[in-house]
Amino acid sequence: MSLLGGKKILLGISGGIAAYKTPLLVRELIKNGAQVRVVMTPAAKDFVTPLTLSTLSKNPVLSSFSATDQDNPLWNDHVELGLWADLMLIAPATSNTLSAMAHGRCNNLLLAVYLSAKCPIFIAPAMDLDMFAHPANKKNIEILSSCGNSILPVGEGFLASGLEGKGRMLEPDQITSYIIDFFNPNLPLKGKRVLITAGPTFEAIDPVRFIGNHASGKMGFALAEVAANLGAKVTLVSGPTSERTNHPHINVKAVVSASEMFEAVKDVYDNVHIAIGAAAVADYKPEVKEKHKIKKKSDHLAINLVPTKDILAYMGEHKKGQYLLGFALETQNELENALEKLQRKNLDGIVLNSMQDKGAGFSVSTNKITFIHSDKSIHNFPLQSKWACAETIFDQILTYDS
Ligand code: CTP
Repeated sequence: MSLLGGKKILLGISGGIAAYKTPLLVRELIKNGAQVRVVMTPAAKDFVTPLTLSTLSKNPVLSSFSATDQDNPLWNDHVELGLWADLMLIAPATSNTLSAMAHGRCNNLLLAVYLSAKCPIFIAPAMDLDMFAHPANKKNIEILSSCGNSILPVGEGFLASGLEGKGRMLEPDQITSYIIDFFNPNLPLKGKRVLITAGPTFEAIDPVRFIGNHASGKMGFALAEVAANLGAKVTLVSGPTSERTNHPHINVKAVVSASEMFEAVKDVYDNVHIAIGAAAVADYKPEVKEKHKIKKKSDHLAINLVPTKDILAYMGEHKKGQYLLGFALETQNELENALEKLQRKNLDGIVLNSMQDKGAGFSVSTNKITFIHSDKSIHNFPLQSKWACAETIFDQILTYDS
């Protein structure tokens, strides 16, 4: 399920500070199955190197009309590049490049490719707020829009100038989601709401200490992004993690403890179509959270623990037509334990990870999963990235349970 599988995307980079985000943009596009080639203006090379982009795109990066560093200069054919692409994306599009595009100027390769391209064109403007708001710039954007180009919105926030306002280039994952939407108008999760729990929970012992675990949140965030790319509106309830997402269809609710996660889940559960428990929720929490830092007084310290709420079991008990998926991370009797959890928590499916599998588990970016459906059919998958696991999981949900 590669949402940009086989799509040829030509990325045109112009010279603005937001160009530093383009390596991540190339990676996002490739991660979703696209082939990417890059053309850049000479000024863009001051912000990001062609070597970085050619390494990531696995294609030469072009910026002039001919390859001049050879004995026999080669013509970089702008017509061929424009015809190769299924979509041309200009990101960042500076005020200067927008103006040149709007008025048909052709003094660099990027502009020549733009003028000769027959494919759909997406433009992600990026500039300082006053430039963005200037009537001349607005007029250029209107002209470009009237020529049939798709103009992506700009983000709002901190700008390189130190000012705050409208003008930031959209984040790479946001741009990618617009392109995915364009190529996939009938996404399988369009109109569906998905709830995902992710990360660890921290259970406070005193104001500075807690009981936690090594869950990174990677699996839950990958599931959220894949669901959103498939068209869903996602609520991602996550414990403390360094993972981040800017996907426009993901609403992140950051929580710390199991009880906060439970409250956040309860708020939305009734209104979702699919719920996935990918969080490593603490099973126990200290009975009392000490008001002050516990002082080192004796050789032994006993902390009384009491059970937390089983969030997934709650969702299983209160199911009203939702598809409910759980995870089971096991160290022994894996299948037996996973099947028991599937039944006990009234799930529609469970994803089993075994700690005995190399490359599976908490802090790594890969995983080896077994998907068990409610009819007890079992599907084993090889070691793959957590992103690929997330795609596999939605493949299973959509193929067997829709
Ligand atoms: N889970 C949950 N709330 C809890 C504990 C677990 O929502 N308080 C969810 C996890 O997100 C996961 C599934 O339940 O989807 C299984 O978690 P796991 O820790 O493997 O199972 P437990 O039910 O806690 O059983 P045990 O720890 O005894 O294996």
